[in-house]
Amino acid sequence: MDKISIRDARQEDAIGRQATLQGWIRTRRDSKGGFSFLEINDGSCMANIQVIADADLSNYESEIKRLSAGCSVTIHGEIKASGGKGQATEVQASEIIVHGWADPEEYPLQKKRHSMEKLREWAHLRPRTNTFGAVARVRNRICRAIHDFFQEDGFLYIHTPIITASDCEGAGEMFRVTTLDPANIPKTPEGKVDFTKDFFDRPSYLTVSGQLEGEIYATALGKVYTFGPTFRAENSNTSRHLAEFWMVEPEAAFFELDDNMQLAEQFLKRIATDVLNHCEEDLAFFQQRIDSTVVETLETLASKAFERIPYTEAVEILEKSGEKFDFPVSWGSDFQAEHERYLTDQHFKCPVILYDYPAAIKPFYMKCNDDGRTVRAMDVLAPRVGEIIGGSQREDCLEVITSRMEAQGLDTDDYWWYLDLRRFGTVPHSGFGLGLERMVQAVTGMANIRDVIPFPRTPGNADF
Ligand code: 4AD
Ligand code: MG
Repeated sequence: MDKISIRDARQEDAIGRQATLQGWIRTRRDSKGGFSFLEINDGSCMANIQVIADADLSNYESEIKRLSAGCSVTIHGEIKASGGKGQATEVQASEIIVHGWADPEEYPLQKKRHSMEKLREWAHLRPRTNTFGAVARVRNRICRAIHDFFQEDGFLYIHTPIITASDCEGAGEMFRVTTLDPANIPKTPEGKVDFTKDFFDRPSYLTVSGQLEGEIYATALGKVYTFGPTFRAENSNTSRHLAEFWMVEPEAAFFELDDNMQLAEQFLKRIATDVLNHCEEDLAFFQQRIDSTVVETLETLASKAFERIPYTEAVEILEKSGEKFDFPVSWGSDFQAEHERYLTDQHFKCPVILYDYPAAIKPFYMKCNDDGRTVRAMDVLAPRVGEIIGGSQREDCLEVITSRMEAQGLDTDDYWWYLDLRRFGTVPHSGFGLGLERMVQAVTGMANIRDVIPFPRTPGNADF
């Protein structure tokens, strides 16, 4: 018999097929007529399939009547039309093989609903719940949309390194990579750490962004993107920060800030559209159980033009809002989550692209505007989530970027290769980074970023 996923077995065109289904029991119900109903889930979709196990199956009394949530089974049987509500099909079992038991006294995922906090302690079991199954499927669809979007637009997928010696964001929030023994650090005669004894001969870190290497490939191949794990040792215990997250970073040559904004908007619209078209069942679940604005937010993302306003204008809007913010707003300070949320959720009621930020609060690589005080930065803010994309046009003038690096305390000798890109055939170029987990939050309505990545790493937590 052919193996079939529950997702396929639930379709009407499967009726009449002899098939094999494999998965985990969600529930068992024994009927008075001497047979049992089993609900099986295999993760291929949110819904279970109902299996009818008659008493004449050889292991009915010895095994089937002992099945409980979490047991793993193989079912051979015929897929039939079902008279039941909410299901087109069901399975009449001809054989049921039990692979593994799950003692109902001990298996934690019984009928009772657990809090998200509790489920985080069971990171090895939570993917078996409806919520985390749905998050995993939607996350997968978003990743597929990311690749489809860039591949169809001629962007090349490149792989930038995870171990690096440079601090792209200049924020000093990097995890060190070393093979030195912390109990026995080699020292130079001056008493400093002797990094020539370390694996890479120099201080090395986990990357905070693949952008600088992305720029190298963009200024050779035109349009590229990198998509991989990113690390930040910032000690922020918030619902939107992780120490390890995934970032997708396109970078394009002959590309200015307006092109960049256009690309970011098309990109987010494509992801939203693909999720709306392919994850209907999971979205209905999020809408009902997690956040009743999920579908509306996605439709806005997919179809409404993003608002584009300069930073300076956003400051004016916030100052005039009459809102009481925990952090006051004034020109020159960075926005907090509460400010971003006011702009997206209350003022504009749609995604917002803020651009032309004060130079002092942005990294060295952003292109300086003629006003001498702002840079060609852009942040895309999504409803509920706030900043979801950060990007910019890059400074392409050798003299300007050299003095910006010096002003921010970077050693230009360390970045000689980055400066070479401005020395040899420099071009206007731009790019941005989308935080994958923040995108998953925007799409699913999940309140905490720890619940949209399989194994969250946060300060004090790398258990699994
Ligand atoms: O704004 P960021 O810091 O921009 C950069 O790293 C640029 N080098 C990207 C580029 O231009 N190629 O980060 C980009 C995005 C943020 O908007 C946010 O969505 C996400 O990455 N992000 C985080 N997500 C989860 N946890 C964290 N600690 C994050 N820090 C940034
Ligand atoms: Mg940012």
